[in-house]
Amino acid sequence: MTIAIIGAGIAGAACAAALTQQGHDVVVFDKGRSAGGRMSSKRTEQGYLDLGAQYFTARSDAFRAQCDKWLQTDTISRWNGRLAVFDGGNLMPSPDNTERYIGQPAMQAPVVQLLNNIHLQCNCQIDQLQFDGKYWQLFSKGIALGSFSQLVLAIPQQQAQQLLQPVLTQSARLTTLFAATALLPCWAVNIQLEQPFLPYDAIFVKNHPLSWLARQASKPGRCSAEHWLLHFSPAFSAQHLEASTEVIAEQAVIALQQISGQPINAVTTLCHRWRYAQQAAEFPVAGAIYLPALALGLAGDWLNGGRVENAWLSGVQLAEELTL
Ligand code: FAD
Ligand code: NAI
Repeated sequence: MTIAIIGAGIAGAACAAALTQQGHDVVVFDKGRSAGGRMSSKRTEQGYLDLGAQYFTARSDAFRAQCDKWLQTDTISRWNGRLAVFDGGNLMPSPDNTERYIGQPAMQAPVVQLLNNIHLQCNCQIDQLQFDGKYWQLFSKGIALGSFSQLVLAIPQQQAQQLLQPVLTQSARLTTLFAATALLPCWAVNIQLEQPFLPYDAIFVKNHPLSWLARQASKPGRCSAEHWLLHFSPAFSAQHLEASTEVIAEQAVIALQQISGQPINAVTTLCHRWRYAQQAAEFPVAGAIYLPALALGLAGDWLNGGRVENAWLSGVQLAEELTL
Protein backbone atom coordinates (compact mmCIF):
# COMPACT_ATOMS: atom_id res chain seq x y z
CA MET A 1 0.00 0.00 0.00
CA THR A 2 1.16 3.54 -0.71
CA ILE A 3 -0.34 5.76 1.94
CA ALA A 4 -0.55 9.53 1.95
CA ILE A 5 -0.87 11.23 5.33
CA ILE A 6 -1.90 14.86 5.42
CA GLY A 7 -0.73 16.47 8.65
CA ALA A 8 2.60 16.13 10.45
CA GLY A 9 1.27 16.77 13.96
CA ILE A 10 1.58 14.13 16.67
CA ALA A 11 -1.43 12.16 15.32
CA GLY A 12 -0.14 11.99 11.73
CA ALA A 13 3.38 11.22 12.95
CA ALA A 14 2.22 8.40 15.24
CA CYS A 15 0.17 6.92 12.39
CA ALA A 16 3.07 7.26 9.93
CA ALA A 17 5.53 5.62 12.35
CA ALA A 18 3.23 2.65 13.03
CA LEU A 19 2.47 2.11 9.33
CA THR A 20 6.14 2.36 8.37
CA GLN A 21 7.04 -0.16 11.04
CA GLN A 22 4.60 -2.55 9.36
CA GLY A 23 6.42 -2.12 6.06
CA HIS A 24 4.07 0.26 4.25
CA ASP A 25 5.18 3.10 1.97
CA VAL A 26 4.17 6.35 3.61
CA VAL A 27 4.44 9.96 2.47
CA VAL A 28 3.53 12.72 4.93
CA PHE A 29 2.53 16.20 3.75
CA ASP A 30 2.38 19.32 5.92
CA LYS A 31 1.70 22.93 5.07
CA GLY A 32 4.02 24.13 7.84
CA ARG A 33 7.74 24.80 7.58
CA SER A 34 8.41 21.76 9.76
CA ALA A 35 6.63 18.97 11.60
CA GLY A 36 4.88 19.53 14.95
CA GLY A 37 1.53 21.21 14.32
CA ARG A 38 0.06 22.50 17.56
CA MET A 39 3.05 20.99 19.40
CA SER A 40 5.46 23.52 17.88
CA SER A 41 7.66 25.90 19.87
CA LYS A 42 8.54 29.16 18.17
CA ARG A 43 12.22 29.77 17.57
CA THR A 44 13.27 33.33 18.48
CA GLU A 45 16.63 35.06 18.84
CA GLN A 46 16.33 34.59 22.60
CA GLY A 47 15.41 30.90 22.44
CA TYR A 48 12.34 28.69 22.06
CA LEU A 49 8.90 29.87 23.19
CA ASP A 50 6.01 27.46 23.70
CA LEU A 51 2.97 29.15 22.19
CA GLY A 52 0.80 26.04 21.64
CA ALA A 53 0.82 22.83 23.67
CA GLN A 54 2.42 23.55 27.06
CA TYR A 55 3.15 20.07 28.38
CA PHE A 56 1.63 16.63 28.13
CA THR A 57 0.64 13.90 30.53
CA ALA A 58 0.46 10.14 30.03
CA ARG A 59 -2.48 8.17 31.41
CA SER A 60 -2.59 5.12 29.12
CA ASP A 61 -0.07 2.28 29.36
CA ALA A 62 0.74 2.60 25.65
CA PHE A 63 1.57 6.30 25.80
CA ARG A 64 3.46 5.86 29.08
CA ALA A 65 5.67 3.28 27.35
CA GLN A 66 6.22 5.70 24.45
CA CYS A 67 7.14 8.52 26.87
CA ASP A 68 9.62 6.22 28.64
CA LYS A 69 11.36 5.63 25.29
CA TRP A 70 11.45 9.36 24.59
CA LEU A 71 12.85 10.03 28.08
CA GLN A 72 15.65 7.53 27.46
CA THR A 73 16.69 9.33 24.28
CA ASP A 74 16.28 12.85 25.78
CA THR A 75 13.57 13.57 23.20
CA ILE A 76 11.44 14.76 26.12
CA SER A 77 12.09 15.75 29.71
CA ARG A 78 10.00 16.05 32.83
CA TRP A 79 8.75 19.51 33.68
CA ASN A 80 8.24 20.18 37.38
CA GLY A 81 6.81 23.69 37.38
CA ARG A 82 5.74 25.37 40.60
CA LEU A 83 1.98 25.33 40.04
CA ALA A 84 -0.67 27.73 41.23
CA VAL A 85 -4.34 28.30 40.63
CA PHE A 86 -6.21 31.59 40.21
CA ASP A 87 -9.90 31.31 41.00
CA GLY A 88 -12.49 33.75 42.36
CA GLY A 89 -9.88 36.51 42.54
CA ASN A 90 -7.45 34.43 44.64
CA LEU A 91 -4.00 33.27 43.57
CA MET A 92 -2.73 30.30 45.58
CA PRO A 93 -0.24 27.46 45.29
CA SER A 94 -1.64 24.26 43.81
CA PRO A 95 1.09 21.62 43.71
CA ASP A 96 0.32 18.07 42.60
CA ASN A 97 2.07 14.81 41.79
CA THR A 98 1.18 14.59 38.08
CA GLU A 99 4.13 13.79 35.79
CA ARG A 100 4.26 16.41 33.04
CA TYR A 101 6.49 16.22 29.97
CA ILE A 102 7.86 18.65 27.40
CA GLY A 103 9.75 18.09 24.13
CA GLN A 104 13.52 18.78 24.08
CA PRO A 105 14.81 21.25 23.16
CA ALA A 106 11.42 22.25 21.71
CA MET A 107 7.90 20.89 22.00
CA GLN A 108 7.91 19.32 18.52
CA ALA A 109 10.83 16.97 19.31
CA PRO A 110 8.68 13.82 19.78
CA VAL A 111 6.92 14.48 16.46
CA VAL A 112 10.24 14.96 14.69
CA GLN A 113 11.54 11.73 16.26
CA LEU A 114 8.51 9.72 15.08
CA LEU A 115 9.01 11.00 11.53
CA ASN A 116 12.71 10.19 11.45
CA ASN A 117 13.44 8.31 8.17
CA ILE A 118 9.89 8.83 6.88
CA HIS A 119 9.29 10.73 3.64
CA LEU A 120 8.03 14.15 4.83
CA GLN A 121 7.14 17.00 2.49
CA CYS A 122 6.78 20.31 4.35
CA ASN A 123 5.63 23.68 2.96
CA CYS A 124 3.05 21.68 1.05
CA GLN A 125 -0.58 22.59 1.63
CA ILE A 126 -2.94 20.05 0.12
CA ASP A 127 -5.79 22.06 -1.35
CA GLN A 128 -7.55 19.54 -3.57
CA LEU A 129 -8.35 15.83 -3.40
CA GLN A 130 -9.77 13.47 -6.03
CA PHE A 131 -10.93 9.89 -5.47
CA ASP A 132 -11.63 7.66 -8.50
CA GLY A 133 -13.04 4.76 -6.47
CA LYS A 134 -9.63 3.15 -6.01
CA TYR A 135 -6.89 5.78 -5.81
CA TRP A 136 -6.56 9.19 -4.23
CA GLN A 137 -4.87 12.03 -6.11
CA LEU A 138 -3.47 14.89 -4.05
CA PHE A 139 -2.90 18.41 -5.35
CA SER A 140 -1.17 21.52 -4.07
CA LYS A 141 -1.59 24.78 -6.02
CA GLY A 142 -2.69 22.79 -9.07
CA ILE A 143 0.33 20.46 -8.98
CA ALA A 144 -0.44 16.73 -8.76
CA LEU A 145 1.54 15.05 -5.97
CA GLY A 146 0.88 11.44 -6.83
CA SER A 147 -1.55 8.61 -6.58
CA PHE A 148 -2.14 6.76 -3.29
CA SER A 149 -4.08 3.62 -2.41
CA GLN A 150 -5.01 4.96 1.07
CA LEU A 151 -5.42 8.47 2.40
CA VAL A 152 -5.11 9.60 6.03
CA LEU A 153 -6.23 13.02 7.16
CA ALA A 154 -4.60 13.96 10.47
CA ILE A 155 -5.63 17.61 10.48
CA PRO A 156 -8.13 19.65 12.52
CA GLN A 157 -11.83 18.95 11.97
CA GLN A 158 -12.76 22.07 10.01
CA GLN A 159 -9.80 21.66 7.66
CA ALA A 160 -10.64 17.98 7.07
CA GLN A 161 -14.26 18.85 6.35
CA GLN A 162 -13.23 21.44 3.77
CA LEU A 163 -10.84 19.10 1.95
CA LEU A 164 -13.32 16.22 1.91
CA GLN A 165 -16.17 18.20 0.29
CA PRO A 166 -15.92 16.14 -2.96
CA VAL A 167 -16.69 12.85 -1.16
CA LEU A 168 -18.91 14.02 1.69
CA THR A 169 -22.11 12.90 -0.04
CA GLN A 170 -20.73 9.34 -0.18
CA SER A 171 -20.55 8.96 3.59
CA ALA A 172 -23.39 9.67 6.01
CA ARG A 173 -20.95 8.93 8.86
CA LEU A 174 -18.64 11.76 7.80
CA THR A 175 -21.52 14.20 7.37
CA THR A 176 -22.85 13.39 10.86
CA LEU A 177 -19.39 13.60 12.36
CA PHE A 178 -18.60 17.01 10.89
CA ALA A 179 -21.99 18.38 11.95
CA ALA A 180 -21.39 17.37 15.59
CA THR A 181 -19.08 20.25 16.58
CA ALA A 182 -15.91 22.14 15.70
CA LEU A 183 -12.54 22.86 17.26
CA LEU A 184 -12.53 26.05 19.35
CA PRO A 185 -9.93 28.83 19.01
CA CYS A 186 -7.24 30.03 21.43
CA TRP A 187 -5.39 33.34 21.52
CA ALA A 188 -1.85 32.95 22.86
CA VAL A 189 0.24 35.92 24.01
CA ASN A 190 3.88 35.85 25.07
CA ILE A 191 4.89 38.78 27.27
CA GLN A 192 8.50 39.56 28.02
CA LEU A 193 9.05 41.24 31.38
CA GLU A 194 12.09 43.04 32.76
CA GLN A 195 12.40 40.92 35.87
CA PRO A 196 10.93 37.88 37.63
CA PHE A 197 7.66 38.81 39.27
CA LEU A 198 5.83 35.80 40.73
CA PRO A 199 6.99 32.83 42.83
CA TYR A 200 5.28 30.39 40.39
CA ASP A 201 6.04 28.77 37.03
CA ALA A 202 2.49 28.18 35.85
CA ILE A 203 -1.03 29.16 36.84
CA PHE A 204 -4.25 27.32 36.02
CA VAL A 205 -6.78 30.13 35.64
CA LYS A 206 -10.45 29.36 36.29
CA ASN A 207 -13.60 31.37 35.56
CA HIS A 208 -11.70 34.15 33.81
CA PRO A 209 -10.91 35.34 30.25
CA LEU A 210 -7.48 33.70 30.66
CA SER A 211 -7.11 29.95 31.10
CA TRP A 212 -3.35 29.48 31.64
CA LEU A 213 -0.08 31.32 32.37
CA ALA A 214 3.41 29.84 32.23
CA ARG A 215 6.96 31.04 32.71
CA GLN A 216 9.00 29.93 29.72
CA ALA A 217 12.27 29.92 31.68
CA SER A 218 10.92 27.22 34.01
CA LYS A 219 11.08 24.78 31.10
CA PRO A 220 14.40 23.15 30.24
CA GLY A 221 15.48 24.12 26.71
CA ARG A 222 13.34 27.25 26.49
CA CYS A 223 14.18 30.94 26.47
CA SER A 224 15.87 31.85 29.75
CA ALA A 225 14.77 35.51 29.85
CA GLU A 226 11.60 36.42 31.77
CA HIS A 227 8.89 35.49 29.26
CA TRP A 228 5.33 34.61 30.29
CA LEU A 229 2.92 32.81 28.01
CA LEU A 230 -0.79 33.47 28.40
CA HIS A 231 -3.65 31.47 26.90
CA PHE A 232 -7.08 33.03 26.66
CA SER A 233 -10.14 30.85 27.27
CA PRO A 234 -12.11 29.40 24.32
CA ALA A 235 -15.03 31.77 25.08
CA PHE A 236 -12.86 34.91 25.08
CA SER A 237 -10.87 33.71 22.05
CA ALA A 238 -14.02 32.99 20.03
CA GLN A 239 -15.53 36.36 20.94
CA HIS A 240 -12.32 38.20 19.94
CA LEU A 241 -11.30 35.94 17.06
CA GLU A 242 -10.92 38.80 14.58
CA ALA A 243 -9.52 41.36 17.04
CA SER A 244 -6.17 42.96 16.18
CA THR A 245 -3.01 41.71 17.89
CA GLU A 246 -2.69 45.18 19.52
CA VAL A 247 -6.06 44.75 21.22
CA ILE A 248 -5.26 41.19 22.31
CA ALA A 249 -1.84 42.20 23.67
CA GLU A 250 -3.45 45.05 25.63
CA GLN A 251 -6.04 42.66 27.09
CA ALA A 252 -3.25 40.24 28.02
CA VAL A 253 -1.33 42.89 29.96
CA ILE A 254 -4.51 43.91 31.81
CA ALA A 255 -5.28 40.28 32.66
CA LEU A 256 -1.72 39.63 33.86
CA GLN A 257 -1.92 42.71 36.11
CA GLN A 258 -5.22 41.50 37.51
CA ILE A 259 -3.96 38.01 38.28
CA SER A 260 -0.57 39.02 39.68
CA GLY A 261 -1.87 42.08 41.52
CA GLN A 262 1.17 43.97 40.21
CA PRO A 263 1.74 46.63 37.54
CA ILE A 264 3.16 45.08 34.36
CA ASN A 265 5.81 46.67 32.22
CA ALA A 266 5.87 44.60 29.03
CA VAL A 267 9.18 44.74 27.16
CA THR A 268 7.74 42.89 24.16
CA THR A 269 4.50 41.09 23.32
CA LEU A 270 3.94 38.39 20.73
CA CYS A 271 0.43 37.23 19.80
CA HIS A 272 -0.52 34.03 18.02
CA ARG A 273 -4.06 33.03 17.09
CA TRP A 274 -4.77 29.30 17.06
CA ARG A 275 -7.92 29.19 14.96
CA TYR A 276 -8.45 25.47 15.64
CA ALA A 277 -7.07 24.77 19.11
CA GLN A 278 -9.18 22.57 21.30
CA GLN A 279 -12.08 20.24 21.24
CA ALA A 280 -15.40 21.22 22.77
CA ALA A 281 -16.05 19.14 25.88
CA GLU A 282 -19.28 17.67 24.52
CA PHE A 283 -17.79 16.22 21.31
CA PRO A 284 -18.39 12.43 20.92
CA VAL A 285 -15.16 10.43 21.11
CA ALA A 286 -14.53 8.04 18.19
CA GLY A 287 -10.78 7.44 18.64
CA ALA A 288 -10.14 7.39 14.90
CA ILE A 289 -12.24 6.70 11.81
CA TYR A 290 -11.51 4.33 8.95
CA LEU A 291 -13.84 4.10 5.95
CA PRO A 292 -12.63 1.15 3.78
CA ALA A 293 -15.02 1.94 0.90
CA LEU A 294 -13.37 5.34 0.55
CA ALA A 295 -9.85 4.09 1.38
CA LEU A 296 -9.88 6.95 3.87
CA GLY A 297 -8.84 7.35 7.50
CA LEU A 298 -9.15 10.26 9.91
CA ALA A 299 -7.08 10.77 13.06
CA GLY A 300 -6.41 13.65 15.41
CA ASP A 301 -7.06 15.00 18.88
CA TRP A 302 -10.51 16.20 17.86
CA LEU A 303 -11.65 12.57 17.40
CA ASN A 304 -10.30 11.39 20.72
CA GLY A 305 -10.87 13.90 23.52
CA GLY A 306 -8.19 16.56 22.83
CA ARG A 307 -4.68 16.52 24.37
CA VAL A 308 -1.35 15.34 22.98
CA GLU A 309 -1.73 11.83 24.39
CA ASN A 310 -5.15 11.38 22.78
CA ALA A 311 -3.89 12.63 19.42
CA TRP A 312 -1.03 10.09 19.57
CA LEU A 313 -3.46 7.31 20.55
CA SER A 314 -5.75 8.29 17.67
CA GLY A 315 -2.92 8.00 15.14
CA VAL A 316 -1.85 4.61 16.48
CA GLN A 317 -5.45 3.35 16.48
CA LEU A 318 -5.96 4.42 12.87
CA ALA A 319 -2.80 2.59 11.76
CA GLU A 320 -4.15 -0.58 13.38
CA GLU A 321 -7.61 -0.24 11.77
CA LEU A 322 -6.12 0.53 8.38
CA THR A 323 -4.03 -2.63 8.28
CA LEU A 324 -6.50 -5.14 9.77
P1 FAD B 1 -2.12 19.19 14.75
O1 FAD B 1 -1.02 19.32 15.71
O2 FAD B 1 -3.00 20.37 14.53
O3 FAD B 1 -1.49 18.72 13.35
C1 FAD B 1 -2.13 18.90 12.13
C2 FAD B 1 -1.10 19.26 11.08
O4 FAD B 1 -1.77 19.31 9.80
C3 FAD B 1 -0.48 20.63 11.26
O5 FAD B 1 0.94 20.51 11.31
C4 FAD B 1 -0.92 21.45 10.04
O6 FAD B 1 0.09 22.31 9.55
C5 FAD B 1 -1.23 20.35 9.03
N1 FAD B 1 -2.23 20.68 8.01
C6 FAD B 1 -3.51 21.13 8.20
N2 FAD B 1 -4.14 21.26 7.02
C7 FAD B 1 -3.26 20.88 6.05
C8 FAD B 1 -3.33 20.79 4.63
N3 FAD B 1 -4.44 21.10 3.95
N4 FAD B 1 -2.22 20.37 3.96
C9 FAD B 1 -1.07 20.04 4.62
N5 FAD B 1 -0.98 20.11 5.97
C10 FAD B 1 -2.05 20.52 6.68
N6 FAD B 1 -2.46 19.39 24.65
C11 FAD B 1 -1.90 18.89 25.77
O7 FAD B 1 -1.87 17.65 25.95
N7 FAD B 1 -1.33 19.71 26.70
C12 FAD B 1 -1.35 21.06 26.57
O8 FAD B 1 -0.81 21.78 27.42
C13 FAD B 1 -1.97 21.61 25.42
N8 FAD B 1 -2.05 22.95 25.27
C14 FAD B 1 -2.50 23.46 24.09
C15 FAD B 1 -2.49 24.82 23.90
C16 FAD B 1 -2.89 25.36 22.68
C17 FAD B 1 -2.87 26.85 22.47
C18 FAD B 1 -3.27 24.50 21.62
C19 FAD B 1 -3.61 25.07 20.28
C20 FAD B 1 -3.33 23.14 21.83
C21 FAD B 1 -2.96 22.62 23.06
N9 FAD B 1 -3.01 21.25 23.32
C22 FAD B 1 -2.48 20.74 24.47
C23 FAD B 1 -3.60 20.34 22.36
C24 FAD B 1 -2.52 19.61 21.56
O9 FAD B 1 -1.59 20.53 21.04
C25 FAD B 1 -3.22 18.87 20.43
O10 FAD B 1 -4.17 17.97 21.00
C26 FAD B 1 -2.29 18.05 19.54
O11 FAD B 1 -1.05 18.67 19.32
C27 FAD B 1 -3.03 17.82 18.22
O12 FAD B 1 -2.25 17.03 17.36
P2 FAD B 1 -2.84 16.63 15.92
O13 FAD B 1 -1.78 15.84 15.26
O14 FAD B 1 -4.19 16.00 16.10
O15 FAD B 1 -3.11 18.00 15.15
P1 NAI C 1 -3.57 18.00 33.49
O1 NAI C 1 -4.05 16.71 34.03
O2 NAI C 1 -2.37 18.66 34.07
O3 NAI C 1 -4.74 19.10 33.56
C1 NAI C 1 -6.09 18.90 33.27
C2 NAI C 1 -6.89 20.02 33.92
O4 NAI C 1 -6.96 19.79 35.34
C3 NAI C 1 -6.30 21.42 33.78
O5 NAI C 1 -6.75 22.09 32.64
C4 NAI C 1 -6.76 22.11 35.04
O6 NAI C 1 -8.05 22.62 34.85
C5 NAI C 1 -6.82 20.99 36.05
N1 NAI C 1 -5.58 20.91 36.87
C6 NAI C 1 -4.56 20.01 36.71
N2 NAI C 1 -3.63 20.19 37.65
C7 NAI C 1 -4.03 21.22 38.42
C8 NAI C 1 -3.48 21.88 39.54
N3 NAI C 1 -2.31 21.52 40.08
N4 NAI C 1 -4.17 22.90 40.08
C9 NAI C 1 -5.35 23.27 39.57
N5 NAI C 1 -5.93 22.71 38.50
C10 NAI C 1 -5.28 21.68 37.93
O7 NAI C 1 -3.26 17.88 31.94
P2 NAI C 1 -3.98 17.16 30.72
O8 NAI C 1 -5.29 16.58 31.07
O9 NAI C 1 -2.97 16.30 30.09
O10 NAI C 1 -4.30 18.40 29.78
C11 NAI C 1 -3.26 19.17 29.29
C12 NAI C 1 -3.52 20.63 29.38
O11 NAI C 1 -3.73 21.06 28.07
C13 NAI C 1 -4.69 21.12 30.18
O12 NAI C 1 -4.26 22.18 30.99
C14 NAI C 1 -5.64 21.62 29.11
O13 NAI C 1 -6.46 22.68 29.57
C15 NAI C 1 -4.65 22.10 28.08
N6 NAI C 1 -5.17 22.26 26.73
C16 NAI C 1 -5.27 23.51 26.24
C17 NAI C 1 -5.72 23.76 24.96
C18 NAI C 1 -5.83 25.16 24.47
O14 NAI C 1 -6.24 25.36 23.33
N7 NAI C 1 -5.48 26.16 25.27
C19 NAI C 1 -6.09 22.66 24.07
C20 NAI C 1 -5.98 21.35 24.67
C21 NAI C 1 -5.50 21.18 25.97
